[in-house]
Amino acid sequence: MTNLSAAQLQIIENARQYMIQILDNETTSHDIGHVFRVEKNAVFLQQTEGGNLFLIRLATLLHDVGTPKENEIGGDHAVYGSEMAFDFLKSEQQKYPETISDADISAVSSIILSHRFSSGQKPEAIEAQILQDADRLDALGAVGVFRSVYSMGSLRMLKCLTGIDKGSSKKTVYTKDPVEGFYAYMSYKPQEIPNRLNTETAKRIAKERLEFMELFEKQLREEND
Ligand SMILES: [Fe+2]
Ligand SMILES: [Fe+2]
Repeated sequence: MTNLSAAQLQIIENARQYMIQILDNETTSHDIGHVFRVEKNAVFLQQTEGGNLFLIRLATLLHDVGTPKENEIGGDHAVYGSEMAFDFLKSEQQKYPETISDADISAVSSIILSHRFSSGQKPEAIEAQILQDADRLDALGAVGVFRSVYSMGSLRMLKCLTGIDKGSSKKTVYTKDPVEGFYAYMSYKPQEIPNRLNTETAKRIAKERLEFMELFEKQLREEND
């Protein structure tokens, strides 16, 4: 178990408050609850996989802060988030110059840059591998079912209200029957995730969570078809 100093814990807390402020009105599945679950997953993975806990906690808390900007103007929230985290941590460095170095700030920024599922990048640093895995695990299990349905609903609502078809990994979001859309979604993204995980601990958790999703889908088919 890695012990963090009081100053490190204070920077982590400040990062949490910064993230909450930015994602406060987020209506996609990259919301505050998602970030907290990713943080919990990442802390768990770090216990067996190692890596610098301070960097991992900062990167997980800040990894999706670029989402509102992507929603607003398009582009890539990983790129926006890495820049925003860099600027935020530079301002923290003014307050805690002994606690966070330039190398730490660059590391957190690059961990965030490589996190995106669709980027297909496999990072070398264990801290970046852990963030990718922790983020991907949040698309699996009961929470994975919940997030996919929630996200399909919010994207359909956006289209209904504004006419905007927002690009999404849920390519089937606009199928006429939403349940068919869910089956189609289940047939690709959750199945792909275990092959794209980096750490053995995450692969083991993914297997259990995927089994639950398959059970859910089976039950849904029995009740719905
Ligand atoms: Fe993300
Ligand atoms: Fe995320």
